[in-house]
Amino acid sequence: MSHQTPIFAVVLAAGKGTRMKSNRAKVLHTLCGVPMVNYAIEAIRPLVPERLLVVVGHQAEEVKSVLPPDAEPVLQREQLGTGDAVRVALESIEEEEGLLLVVNGDGPLISDRTLGELVERHRSAGVGATVLAAELPDPNGLGRVTEDAGVVRIVEERDASEAEREIRLVNLGLYAFELSEIRAALRNLGSDNDQGELYLTDALEIIGRRNRAVTYRLKDLEEANLVNDRSHLARAEEILRRRILDAHMRDGVTVRDPSSTHIEAGVEIGRDTIILPGTFLRGSTKVGSDCVIGPFTDLMDTIVCDGALVEHSVGRGAEIGPGANVGPFSYLRPGTVLGAGSKVGAYCEVKNTRVGEGSKVPHLSYVGDAEIGENANLGAGTITANYDGKNKNRTSIGDGAFTGVNTSLIAPVTIGDEAYLGAGSVVNKDIPPGKLAVGAPARVIRDAPKKVSEKSKKRES
Ligand code: UD1
Ligand code: CA
Repeated sequence: MSHQTPIFAVVLAAGKGTRMKSNRAKVLHTLCGVPMVNYAIEAIRPLVPERLLVVVGHQAEEVKSVLPPDAEPVLQREQLGTGDAVRVALESIEEEEGLLLVVNGDGPLISDRTLGELVERHRSAGVGATVLAAELPDPNGLGRVTEDAGVVRIVEERDASEAEREIRLVNLGLYAFELSEIRAALRNLGSDNDQGELYLTDALEIIGRRNRAVTYRLKDLEEANLVNDRSHLARAEEILRRRILDAHMRDGVTVRDPSSTHIEAGVEIGRDTIILPGTFLRGSTKVGSDCVIGPFTDLMDTIVCDGALVEHSVGRGAEIGPGANVGPFSYLRPGTVLGAGSKVGAYCEVKNTRVGEGSKVPHLSYVGDAEIGENANLGAGTITANYDGKNKNRTSIGDGAFTGVNTSLIAPVTIGDEAYLGAGSVVNKDIPPGKLAVGAPARVIRDAPKKVSEKSKKRES
């Protein structure tokens, strides 16, 4: 095997993306929760480049903040065109020999396989430059490509003649260059075009005339979904979304209605879990096996353990224990940890609270900054008054405690194990274990009633 020169990869991500009509740089727009620029980086990584440079410019700081540690940002101060962007990147590459792989940052569907094939084709042809091209039914907005005897010419749509516009072979913004060739070509680049920019595409013709340049034809046209405006963004995201769903389904997850299910790239789901329609699983959400999620549930950075049910609910940074039951219409906020077999029911909001194993918050409650023991039961409308206008105070509810409907717990306060609160109690003092308290403010009147056990219930019936 001949000695292979190293690959230097450059992602072009400095442009504004005018056609997005956005205050945010185009490459920061997300698809399935991942910024566009990261797709290009992911596709490059398997090629194990010597360096992975990302040219940033417009909103440079924001773009830098989404880059993984192995990507090196280089700053293009003024967006003078794709040719200038590559020139900036080359300034930080000292090597004389190597392959420069240039990837436009706005092609989120380009695969590592295609990049690998492009490099392969470039090396085996021994040419100065290779560009990825595709024959598209609708070439609108893209540079048109002609190839003739080792010379490739690319003309931008805005600079094209009527005849050239008829060409359906387009430039997909992906190139392999010999380092020495691209360096030399960029020195000769002009900006005599409609935009007065330095076009990287002009380098192809220059290299073709000095040496040789060729096209490599894209095999899977789905990858040609480049993003220039929001309708392209939606189309590309739809393809990625379906790919994610298909992967989960192959791994044993039932997705009842793929058309209304949105699962972001980083989400994990165990087998035999059922995802019902209208469900969004986002961020670092992890769902175990044998769960039922949805319909109409939106979980962000939430952990759902095996066998849990979550219906018509919203989760943000929550943890739902094994076999727990959530919803319909529950809102679990950050710091919520639900124990095994616990329940948070209809119209409840829970924040920064640990709900112990087997405990229930079944109806119309707000529970914030609290610790609930095991097998406790909060009556309908039990509310923690956790905020006194200055501080957030904690509520502690013991094992087996029971609160009546419309109990107000004025924090900081502790309800002892097996304590029992009458309906409408307003609790501003600690209630000792095993006592019944009623009233506003609640005062202790006698021992708590004995719990009716399951056995004695059966005997009575
Ligand atoms: C470019 C190609 C066009 C091709 C199309 C594919 C040129 C001149 N034209 O056109 O032939 O069909 O891509 O998508 O290259 N960028 C910078 N710095 C700049 C300008 C752009 O980093 O100064 C980046 C952008 O962020 C973007 C990429 O380069 O990721 C392409 O820029 P864009 O303006 O979208 O180029 P197109 O006009 O689409
Ligand atoms: Ca583009």
